[in-house]
Amino acid sequence: MKQEDFMLRCFEIALLGIGHTSPNPMVGACLVYENRIIGEGYHEKHGGPHAEVNAINSVLEEDRHLIPQSTLYVSLEPCCVYGRTPPCTNLILANKIPKVVVSTLDLSPEVAGNGIKILREHGVDVTTGILEDMGKVIAASRHAIVTLDRPYIILKYAQSANGKIGHPDKQVWFTNSISKILVHKWRSESDGILVGANTVAIDNPALTTREYFGKSPIRVILDKKGNLPSESEVFNDAASTIHVVSNGKTTKTTPKNGKTINMDDNAPGFLDQLMSRLVEEKIGLLLVEGGAKTIQRFLTADLWDEARIFTTEVILPDGIDAPKMEKAPEKTFQILKDKLEYYFNR
Ligand SMILES: NC(=O)c1ccc[n+]([C@@H]2O[C@H](COP(=O)([O-])OP(=O)(O)OC[C@H]3O[C@@H](n4cnc5c(N)ncnc54)[C@H](OP(=O)(O)O)[C@@H]3O)[C@@H](O)[C@H]2O)c1
Ligand SMILES: [Zn+2]
Repeated sequence: MKQEDFMLRCFEIALLGIGHTSPNPMVGACLVYENRIIGEGYHEKHGGPHAEVNAINSVLEEDRHLIPQSTLYVSLEPCCVYGRTPPCTNLILANKIPKVVVSTLDLSPEVAGNGIKILREHGVDVTTGILEDMGKVIAASRHAIVTLDRPYIILKYAQSANGKIGHPDKQVWFTNSISKILVHKWRSESDGILVGANTVAIDNPALTTREYFGKSPIRVILDKKGNLPSESEVFNDAASTIHVVSNGKTTKTTPKNGKTINMDDNAPGFLDQLMSRLVEEKIGLLLVEGGAKTIQRFLTADLWDEARIFTTEVILPDGIDAPKMEKAPEKTFQILKDKLEYYFNR
């Protein structure tokens, strides 16, 4: 087995934490003795033990004497500061682990290479940069938080074959049932899901995860006039909601599970301030599900990392134009008759 194989295993288990670790990163770790994984673990949820702790704790009693002769593979640089848990660098040193292999650095200002420096200063042999591009993808939401003070932002919408996103008066369904399940999987992986007021007014979506297992994300509703009816599904108690109403507007609508916050939607930098506020709410991965104007706001502000766009065979003669992507898709999938394209902003 190569270093890359053990790192891939770290990534595989890191991803089991998706949707549960923000604002912490997803991290996976494996402890390897002579090509055999003797322990492995991942950061399961925010506030819980780090991947390195779980990996070391998982080693069987009969293998524990092998720890000081093993290599620790970890998808992200080990932390070196006291947070909710003691630094993982201390744990590695206390367990006399002689070799550590890291995919990518932790860009949190207080870590940013210091974890590796401390280990090397204590004689640990540290290798970095193994499958680094993939490691960065796994750490992407954490890195958006610590370097940009915003979540990792995924824009998602479906359009008709003639480029319409919806009808101004009524809900139109474009995608097939398999695509719908996939979207609900993405919801289960997201910390937050955001839509504009007109989408709530026209479609009355619940924005919960129903077609896939897992949790529902926090619903973020941009309702600057504060006039969305309280009976709207997004204000029910099936998931938590952050109802964003412009400063100076009063509203009688309060989410049954969540809160209303006031922010001036017309102020310059509104979206930046809102994103920073969502980070405080532990939203590290945000799915923006429409409508056209809301998606366009994020595109215009260059506040997006990924776009996932379905194009279907439905023809909608009169409708609202879908946003136009300025770049070419990097990946395309066919889901029965729906085409799914992935765009990346980098
Ligand atoms: N196919 C898809 O994936 C998908 C997904 C979601 C929605 N949709 C469709 O997209 C359409 C809605 O998109 P959209 O671009 O019209 O709007 P939107 O992005 O959902 O919401 C923003 C727009 O709502 C207006 N608005 C109306 N009432 C408001 C209120 N109480 N508070 C704040 N803003 C309010 C805003 O007005 P201002 O101009 O004054 O800011 C703004 O233009 C619907 O037809 C929906 O079915 C499709
Ligand atoms: Zn740690």
